[in-house]
Amino acid sequence: MTPVTRSDLDALPLERKALLLSGRNFWSTEPVEEIGLPSVVLTDGPHGVRRQQADFDQVGLMDSAPATCFPPAVAVGSSWDPDIAERIGTAIGREARALGVPVVLGPGVNIKRSPLCGRNFEYYSEDPLLAGVLGAAHVRGQQSQGVGASVKHFAANNQETSRMQVSADVDERTLREIYLPAFERVVTEARPATVMCAYNKINGVYASQNRWLLTEVLRDEWGFTGAVVSDWGAVDDRVAALEAGLDLQMPGDHGAGNRLVIEAVRAGALDEAVVNRSARRVAALAELRSEPTDGFDVDAHHALARELAAGCAVLLKNEGGALPLARDARVAVVGEFARTPRYQGGGSSHVNATRVDDALSVLGSVLDGTVAFAPGFSLDGSGDAAVLREGALAVARDADVTVVFAGLAEDDESEGFDRTTLDLPAIQVELIRAVAAVSRRTVVVLSTGSVVSLEAWHDDVDAILAGFLLGQAGGGALADLLTGAVDPSGRLAETIPLRLQDTPSYLNFPGELGHVRYGEGVMVGYRHFVTADAPVRYPFGHGLSYTTVETTDLQVRSTGGDAATVSLTVTNTGGRAGRHVVQVYVATSAGPVRRPARELRAFTKLSLEPGEARKVSFQLDRRAFAYWDVREGGWIVAPGEYTVQIGRSSADIVAEAAVTLAGDAVVPELTLQSSVVEWFEHPVVGAPLLEIFLAAMPEGAAEMHAGLLRMIGSMPMRRFAADFGATIPAVELERLMAEAKAARAG
Ligand code: BGC
Repeated sequence: MTPVTRSDLDALPLERKALLLSGRNFWSTEPVEEIGLPSVVLTDGPHGVRRQQADFDQVGLMDSAPATCFPPAVAVGSSWDPDIAERIGTAIGREARALGVPVVLGPGVNIKRSPLCGRNFEYYSEDPLLAGVLGAAHVRGQQSQGVGASVKHFAANNQETSRMQVSADVDERTLREIYLPAFERVVTEARPATVMCAYNKINGVYASQNRWLLTEVLRDEWGFTGAVVSDWGAVDDRVAALEAGLDLQMPGDHGAGNRLVIEAVRAGALDEAVVNRSARRVAALAELRSEPTDGFDVDAHHALARELAAGCAVLLKNEGGALPLARDARVAVVGEFARTPRYQGGGSSHVNATRVDDALSVLGSVLDGTVAFAPGFSLDGSGDAAVLREGALAVARDADVTVVFAGLAEDDESEGFDRTTLDLPAIQVELIRAVAAVSRRTVVVLSTGSVVSLEAWHDDVDAILAGFLLGQAGGGALADLLTGAVDPSGRLAETIPLRLQDTPSYLNFPGELGHVRYGEGVMVGYRHFVTADAPVRYPFGHGLSYTTVETTDLQVRSTGGDAATVSLTVTNTGGRAGRHVVQVYVATSAGPVRRPARELRAFTKLSLEPGEARKVSFQLDRRAFAYWDVREGGWIVAPGEYTVQIGRSSADIVAEAAVTLAGDAVVPELTLQSSVVEWFEHPVVGAPLLEIFLAAMPEGAAEMHAGLLRMIGSMPMRRFAADFGATIPAVELERLMAEAKAARAG
């Protein structure tokens, strides 16, 4: 269509412009016929298109057009592979075109603050770099097909409990370093057509009405030019939301919000320019309506879903080479999930899959030996548990290896509520233990949307393959990994703790009385475990392969501007081809704030033939070394030493090298409330102050200076100067403050 011009829109009567500010119904915007502006459909994602078939006047979660269910974000996170995220985005874009959908809502890049969050299956990781890189790749892919994305849920939507009321109380450094960077990367690198604001409040203000978030950070700092869409039903005060920067309210509320907007303009309480601006941003979405295509290749997309899913699962444990399965082994398959796969999460992202592979049938068709099956448990609690278990033990006894398919049911984790435990259902735990006691070898395959505790049975079994949720072709992908047709190359995007009590948000999740305090600050996920040197079952970044890789020749060079280049060589030292994730962490204690012991700052995934050696290099920009300084309101690189570490996981460093950075010359502001130490250690006025002070001190008192400073170092200068008034005249302090101010400005 020809783009609607600014003057076409601005010239419309207020009522017609305001129409654009909220949806026509659940899934589309209002058309404005007189200027030729069509309605635009926005529908869920993120791991497939959920286009409602029936009437758009209702929510209709289960009634959507068949589409490919690709691996959800929990799996893509574990792939550590932006190529996988991008190919999923591209395929979703193709399907959206075929289904006439110009905007698909996703990806979700919220951080997994607690393993209990009910929607963790829709998010990538506990690490913002990993989440941001994958989210940006997804958006790039999807938008390459002319289909707009909506990165969500902006921001600090890290739990489902009270998601529509709760205030996430988070300090600014934590927001900047942990909860915002994934959004920042997606917005600045991939330019999504829309951003979806979250339901929750942030520090007491609804995300939908948060001007700091939606305008100052998103637009003024990051340069976002698209439309901000509300999460469905996230708007509390329509006028306040509009002023804060929320353009499109979804779903429509039959004009109620728009009437308030019109009244506010008429009453002179709201500038009509604000309406014009948001109406223009919503109107611009119509430019995404490219010509619908003629269907999509269902078989090709299913095959793609299988290929990509196989790059996501994580081999956690593999003792005695239990995997891959020998082709002629007598295999027992146990667990209902082997024939009734759990492959996606519940709620708004539920895709009506075009078909579903089950691992049982695929294993039966590719293995040469016998494949016996027993369900072991039922998903709905029906049947006699003891009989089901006995059936499983019978097949396990006769097998060379038993593969138990365990996991959580769709009802156990979904949108709208959080889990309360990390445990697998007791019936499955008992089954795994009982099978392991009678089977020669036991392999457990897990299908869960988030991590589960392995503690009750981990040591009893030989191998564990964490599939998370792998989408509609996950059954085939699991079979490919179990048989060794594909080398497992996933790495944990979230820590598997020993106990729920060990997780950093444990004491502050999911909050109380309307607030959830992010008391662990930046120490989220592995940042906490590596800093506190606390044990975990499997660390962030962990994942095995059927081959082995060695890292050599690490070199780190500062390139000026507080940036550095890192290079190293990785060699496949095993007997088969495999994919390896190079993880680059930075560790430092430089600066005035507590830093996590190490943080992921770069990564890449490589394919290596047996014996192949590959040199890899990374550029680390200054942000890789910076922390957010709340006093300066910006990113600061502290002068000092930084160690670049290459990890097999966040807890297993295989090479490291140090680099010294000049850092930023921060001249702190000084007031009479600043402490004595801040004054004396000030880079510009500290030395002259000391001179003035010592000159006025009695003979011999100079030596006392260090001890004195320690004792009264935290005293505000105002009080210190009053009590020791004779030694530091007020006029000198005024002069020094002015000097500090001038140095800051210069
Ligand atoms: C979810 C969003 C989703 C929207 C539309 C909301 O409840 O939080 O992620 O896109 O519904 O279904």
